[in-house]
Amino acid sequence: MEPARSNQANQLTTPEENDHEEEILTGLRKNQKTISPKWFYDTEGSALFERITQQPEYYPTRTEIDILRDNRAAIAAACGVGCVMIEPGAGNCEKARLLFDAIRPTAYVPLDISATFLQAAADEVAAQFPWLRVHPVCADFTRDWSFVDDLPAGRRIVFYPGSTIGNLEPAAATDFLRRVRGLVGADGGLLLGVDLHKDRDILNAAYNDAAGITAQFNINLLSHLNRALDADFHPQHFEHSAFYNADEQRIEMHLVSTKDHSVRCLDEDIHFAQGETLHTENSYKYSPESLNALATSAGFQVASSWFDEQQLFSVHYLVCAP
Ligand code: AVI
Repeated sequence: MEPARSNQANQLTTPEENDHEEEILTGLRKNQKTISPKWFYDTEGSALFERITQQPEYYPTRTEIDILRDNRAAIAAACGVGCVMIEPGAGNCEKARLLFDAIRPTAYVPLDISATFLQAAADEVAAQFPWLRVHPVCADFTRDWSFVDDLPAGRRIVFYPGSTIGNLEPAAATDFLRRVRGLVGADGGLLLGVDLHKDRDILNAAYNDAAGITAQFNINLLSHLNRALDADFHPQHFEHSAFYNADEQRIEMHLVSTKDHSVRCLDEDIHFAQGETLHTENSYKYSPESLNALATSAGFQVASSWFDEQQLFSVHYLVCAP
């Protein structure tokens, strides 16, 4: 067996943020101003997201953890043991850790955009599972897939929990799954966590927790932009808004300008009218049928699915369609 290692020799560096400038300005110049939700995740934002997952109203994380824990033997039977397990956006690797003893991967490849966070998480995994080869990769997988040239050899399984797929627009979700299908090939698979449609009150509460952590998470995006782009957003001039859009089958998060004002960002004046919003995130919810359609559109088929008793959340194992 190869020795476990945390790939310390690779100096992990966080990708540069300044090549995102055009993308940001394009979003801010639109009638409905938009920005990618990836701007939530600076150090403060990642910590706030952790706190969101602990809020009583935010059911997805604890429900998915229960599904993974309750079904790990069946999940391992579906995925097969001894694979290279790749986790885009791995964060603290908490969910993958639940599966290692059952799936016994030959290598684990956590991918994350934050080098500091990733290295700490990879070191913890390597210490907790000394038999496991841990190969962390610091990359923005939404833009750069060059990491695939340097993966440990073996049958590949991508693990993409948390319903992060729901933060992609449907066309982008199909594109992402197609890429994953190319990455895992005919003998690999994708273990995917997906949030389900449900009563709108449960959904609205999950994104408007009483403690106001989701509001802080949303507003923190502005402080992140100020630091990263030398912009001058005034967080106090914006309010959190999150609601279920039934027609689009998604939660939308916005920052609502509370007054008429302008912001200097990337050498441009961006005007916000009172009540105008910056659209910061969509979180699409799926049914088993719409998930099936998404999988098919990307050349996958759903081989197995697991749900909690209340059908709040789901985990699916997708394989290449014949
Ligand atoms: C990461 N992602 C799946 C979360 C979600 O539920 O869409 C992000 C989040 N936004 C607000 N609360 C949580």
